[in-house]
Amino acid sequence: MIIKNIGRLIGIQDPSVRRLRGREMDDVYCIDNAWLRFYDGVITGFGEMRSCPLNDDMLDAEGGIVIPAFCDSHTHLVWAGDRSGEFVDKIEGKSYEEIAANGGGILNSSDLLNSVSDDELYDAAARRLRQVMAMGTGAIEIKTGYGLTLEGEVKMMRVIERLRAGFPMLEIKATFLGAHAVGRAFAGRQGDYVDHVIADMLPLMAGKADFVDVFCDKGFFTVDETDRILKAAAPYGMLPKIHANELDCSGGVQVGIANGAMSVDHLERIGDEEIRALAASDTVATMLPGASFFLGMPYGSARKAIDAGCVVALASDYNPGSSPSGSMPFVMSLGCIKMKLSPERALNAVSINGAAAMGLSDRCGSISIGKNASFVIYKSYASSLPYIIHAYSEPTIAAVYLKGQRI
Ligand code: NIG
Ligand code: FE
Repeated sequence: MIIKNIGRLIGIQDPSVRRLRGREMDDVYCIDNAWLRFYDGVITGFGEMRSCPLNDDMLDAEGGIVIPAFCDSHTHLVWAGDRSGEFVDKIEGKSYEEIAANGGGILNSSDLLNSVSDDELYDAAARRLRQVMAMGTGAIEIKTGYGLTLEGEVKMMRVIERLRAGFPMLEIKATFLGAHAVGRAFAGRQGDYVDHVIADMLPLMAGKADFVDVFCDKGFFTVDETDRILKAAAPYGMLPKIHANELDCSGGVQVGIANGAMSVDHLERIGDEEIRALAASDTVATMLPGASFFLGMPYGSARKAIDAGCVVALASDYNPGSSPSGSMPFVMSLGCIKMKLSPERALNAVSINGAAAMGLSDRCGSISIGKNASFVIYKSYASSLPYIIHAYSEPTIAAVYLKGQRI
């Protein structure tokens, strides 16, 4: 199959590039008036229209631009019910932390999750996956963390595995987040809950979870507890991808880096010390502007982090409490509008660096020969990267292909 008459093929990379650091994020390689060929779900060639091979199976992009499918490296897409009631409480002035402290928030989602069947959970998650695929997501990380009981966490992992089987056109990575909040049965016994996570939950996640996560923040898990969990997960081959510095300068960034984290995520509250540590490490700094938008929190200092030499990714944080949107186009727009990233930096943050944060940049995140044929074709009038980003709610997408399959 060949896509012809692409107005601009955007996001080309040498297949050996795994991540973009600092000012490397300033560049996006493009070909104007291009074609793109793929076979068996993989990109096999691209070039300028004047050298376009002839083929029986050709689709005309009619001058529309093409970008790599989005790599969303941080989501909580499996959940039950919704938290629209808390949304109303927030409008009336309650903070995210107050709602959590009163037994709402994550614990509310945990109660809901433990009361539904696998099928119900799967159907709701599959609906969300179909929605984000239609918005151009081609690779996604999904966390547990709404079970908070042994059975609930195992159920979530079962559902993630079923999603992986049901959506072969997507790349799905699974993260075990047993330490998202203290399960109700352990109220007032946080240390015992951490022991339970380590002794009972972790072994059941072996071979299933690619990564381990801890909500290391004020009012949730401490740096020492985080360190214990990450070290206990290491022998199972689960690399850390942790929640850090959302609510406070919690030490989460440092404990993540010390444990060789793939990424530390959120980072609404970081100072020069954290930025320096990230710039000197291989850990991806993942920021989640959708959570800042929804909760009215500060936006992470993405621009400063890039200027300082960090590898920065942006992800959706899709979840029912702090970011009920999995739209990566919107994340990219927030990156530019609110974090003052250039369109090039924003695209790199939601593609190649998002892939890096999931250990998937050998397969995803750019237009490269040998990578997945996963890309987004835009309508011809939306003729540039700045256009699609600035028109942040316009339905500019013409078609999405994931592993060569039209969605
Ligand atoms: O990334 N901060 C912790 N966890 C999620 C929110 C989970 C929830 O509120 O349900 C987040 O924002
Ligand atoms: Fe999150």
